[in-house]
Order: sequence, then C-alpha cells, then structure tokens
Amino acid sequence: MIEKGVTGRTDEWLIHEILRMKKEKNAVLLAHFYQIPQIQDIADYIGDSLFLARQASETTADIIVFAGVHFMAETAKILNPLVKVLLPDMHAGCSLADTCPPDEFRKFRARYPDHVVISYINSSAEIKAQSDVICTSSNAVDIVNSFPLDQKIIFAPDRNLGGYVNRVTGRNMVLWEGTCEVHDILTVESVIRLKRDNPDAKLIAHPECRAPILELADFVGSTSALLKYTISDPSDKFIVATETGILHQMKKNSPDKEFIIVSAEETCACNDCPYMKMNTLEKLYLCLRNEQPEIIMPEDLMEQAGKPIFKMLEISKKLHKV
Ligand code: 13P
Ligand code: SF4
Repeated sequence: MIEKGVTGRTDEWLIHEILRMKKEKNAVLLAHFYQIPQIQDIADYIGDSLFLARQASETTADIIVFAGVHFMAETAKILNPLVKVLLPDMHAGCSLADTCPPDEFRKFRARYPDHVVISYINSSAEIKAQSDVICTSSNAVDIVNSFPLDQKIIFAPDRNLGGYVNRVTGRNMVLWEGTCEVHDILTVESVIRLKRDNPDAKLIAHPECRAPILELADFVGSTSALLKYTISDPSDKFIVATETGILHQMKKNSPDKEFIIVSAEETCACNDCPYMKMNTLEKLYLCLRNEQPEIIMPEDLMEQAGKPIFKMLEISKKLHKV
C-alpha cells in the first residue's frame, strides 16, 4: 500500500524528488529494460543483466537503487557488499528463479557428480551458491564454450536458454526444466501469423522463448543485443518476441522503424513481466526517501554466491566481451 501524501502526486513531482534525493544521497539508479518508461527515462544506467551487474560492481555511489527484480538487486549486493542496495518492491521476484528451489536443485545436482554447474543469473543466491559459474543471456554461449567440449555440464534454471545454447554450441548439457512465465507463454503460431501478415519484418527473440520461435528468428539475443540489432540492421520493421518494456528504447533509438510485439493472446497487445512492473515512481520515491526496502543477506551466502558471479565477470573480461 502506498502511504497517503504520495498518492495523488504528479509524475513530475515524483521525478523531481527522486532526482533531488538521488543527488543528495549519492545514489545511483540502475534500471532494466523491462521497467516502465518513466523509470527508464530517469535512470543513471539502463541495460541488460550483465551490464547492470557490471555497473553495480564498479559504482562508487553510497546507495544503489535497483529498478529491476530481486535476483538483480541481490547480485548487486553480492558484487558490492559495502553499498546499500535498495529494491523499490521486495515482492518483485522472478517466475523463472522460482522454478528452481534450492533443496530440489541440490538433489538434482547429486545425480550428476562429474558435471559442472552453469546457472543463469535469473536464479536465487542459494542456486548461485551451488553453481560453478553464472552466465547471462548475453554471455551464455561464451561461458559454456569456455569449458572443453567433453566437459559434462548442468545448465539451470532456464530450459529454453539451455536448449538454445546446446544447439549453438553442439553440446548436450543436462537442463533443469525451468521457464519464464512471460517468454514461455509466447507461441510459434502467433509468431507465424505475424510473419505472414508482415513478410517484410525481421523476427528477433530473447533466448528465454521456446525453441520453435528461436529457430524461426533472424536474430536471438539478450535485451541489449536485441536493441543494438534494431539500431544497426537496415530493416524498418521488427517482430519482437520478448517483454514489452524493451520497445521504449527501440522506439526512442529508431523512431522511424516499426516494432510489433509478439503477445501471448491475439486480443492482448501486452506481455508485461508482472514482477518488473511492480516498480512504480511512487515506490521508487518512497524507497529513496526511507532507504527501504534494503537487500540484506547472510555473509556466508554472499561469499558462496559471489564466487561463480566473479568467475563469470573474469571469463567475459578475458574474452573482451565487457
Ligand atoms: P537480459 O539479461 O537479456 O536483459 O534478460 C533479463 C531477463 O529477465 C529476461 O527475462
Ligand atoms: Fe523473470 Fe521472466 Fe520477468 Fe525476466 S521476464 S524477470 S525471467 S519472470
């Protein structure tokens, strides 16, 4: 519930106060591409999971306000433990991370004792602590390829991303059967319909989508990679298979191009991530004012979960994919 005195305030007032407090408190605002446009527009840094994790690890701010979801803020805290990390809504979780409960994952891992564990950053700190290295959608192929071809690997928790990496790298990683409720619901039938109605459009997709969509796509990549593709590709029409938030930056960067979102239902033009969209200007204002809710984690969990995250940053730095 938003407290009285904040409801009824205009966006302009909230934005003015957020920017003022951000300066006064030496806070940095990191926002993911799936945030509402009003938040994207006032962020200090906006990007995909890897970019935001890097910003979190390098910042000299006293406070990180993470306009994203819980696993992202948790990762920021692990990477920069002395900084106060705030998440505007503690309930902003991730359906994909939730598909991988730590105790069940421990039993699963025990069945494959000679496998290394590569986990997607969209996972809880408890899963990261059970992993050898973390990857994001932008470096998953590189991280997997940093291991010899005969290395046995468990990939968790996203089976769609894992399956995609298997196909690209020619591997046969054991996959945890997790999915994202926003991407996994998109159907190849709706993609085919949109392609039929827009034969001149390029299809671009996030790797959390199902395999038949990825196989039809002209380009598959992280949110940042999709955005870059729409800027550099000469096409002027794109069918976009991911969450709607990214359209804001695509339209901003290429105002003359047309973007058609693949939606879960024909009658609905939106596939918003309900967790990403929990963050609002009101909650952002309150969170900066009260310096709450704050990410607090046990030290040993931060240490265990930190090792595979730092390993990921080290590998991708070596590969010059910074
Ligand atoms: P990106 O790292 O590609 O931004 O993906 C994050 C995410 O949660 C996608 O659903
Ligand atoms: Fe998680 Fe899916 Fe939302 Fe990304 S879009 S934060 S994977 S629920």
